[in-house]
Amino acid sequence: MCYSIPGKVLEVKDTLVTLGYFGEKRKARNELFAIACGEYAYAQGGFIIQKIPSPQAEAILDSWQELFFKLKEIDARLARHSETLYQKANQIRQQYHGNSCCIHGIIEFSNYCRNECLYCGIQHKNQAVRRYRMEVADIIDTAVYAVDTLGFKALVLQSGEDEYYDEKKLIAIVEGIMQKSPCLLTLSIGERTPDIFKLLYQKGARSVLLRFETSNPQIYAKMKPGHTLAQRLALLAALRNTGYLVMTGFLIGLPGWGKEDIIKDIELTAELGAEMFSFGPFIPHPDTPLAGEEQVSLETALEVIAEARIRNPEAKILVTTALETMDKKNGLQLGLMAGANSIMLNVTPPRYQQLYSIYPLRAGTDTAIESRIEFVIGLLQSLGRAPTDLGL
Ligand code: 5AD
Repeated sequence: MCYSIPGKVLEVKDTLVTLGYFGEKRKARNELFAIACGEYAYAQGGFIIQKIPSPQAEAILDSWQELFFKLKEIDARLARHSETLYQKANQIRQQYHGNSCCIHGIIEFSNYCRNECLYCGIQHKNQAVRRYRMEVADIIDTAVYAVDTLGFKALVLQSGEDEYYDEKKLIAIVEGIMQKSPCLLTLSIGERTPDIFKLLYQKGARSVLLRFETSNPQIYAKMKPGHTLAQRLALLAALRNTGYLVMTGFLIGLPGWGKEDIIKDIELTAELGAEMFSFGPFIPHPDTPLAGEEQVSLETALEVIAEARIRNPEAKILVTTALETMDKKNGLQLGLMAGANSIMLNVTPPRYQQLYSIYPLRAGTDTAIESRIEFVIGLLQSLGRAPTDLGL
């Protein structure tokens, strides 16, 4: 199973590589490999992340050839309409991105957290949650399995803000994964010093997922005791300066929110130069101070996707697990048809998945990854989407 199409190297100019995909040309940055014209490589998020031997690449391309064009046709047909808000957004998505859909695997490696975010089920004051930490070797093995056996080309490493993973351990994790199974590696480990992130960039991590949660400084301060929005935004700016792709966004419907906040949230995500927008509905967790709060409707969450897409045609927009959780059967499809073009699949070892309870009953945690992949690939094909990322 494969989530990315090999590109043929057509031109190399320093770190800028032009790749060909069945006649389409895309550019990608290459900072990690010696690469020459005629070779094949995978690109993700605009970075070359893996070289692939020619015979293997050609066999994969053969199997894609017919399907590639068939899927494009289905997608174009489904994106013909533009009467509703969702349809308008989907049409824009199709015009700017074609049918490509990024798939990330996410490994939730620790649910320890030093923070007290009021909305979050793994905040350190919640005594009801059983805590776990994966050891460095276990994290690397899980990533290697996801890349080599399951076929992922992009992985997110996520945890609570857990200082057990100090600089040395984080470096060992990133280095271990990049040496054994190179991929587009995204760090989602909360706030650490810019220097630590710089070191991890040097070891091969290329992307960071860190939401600013809300653009409203008052709500932020209330929701995250002891923290300020300014501090978060400063870190996001530093990460971007380091060279990281930044994935960021917000929670829809935090207590005190208003529609005008959401527009500001979307605008701030764009201002931060987000490579991928990641925002999802706030789902009240029974063991947090926000247990009794109201939850936004699925329609509202979908409208925010559509609005974000219409305002930011070129952005990648993720269907978050929280949105899928609101409608386990149709949430993913609805998100993809309302302007989204990225998804995340949980590749955390099953014994830990339920424990990473940032909110209750998360979608995907009751299904084995292999059957989840099968379901998602089937869904993507029925919508005419190709599970790939074709570079810049
Ligand atoms: N509902 C939805 N999303 C949540 N997150 C944390 N708690 C909740 C919740 N109750 C999100 C935050 C965080 C991400 C990892 O999970 O936005 O950045």
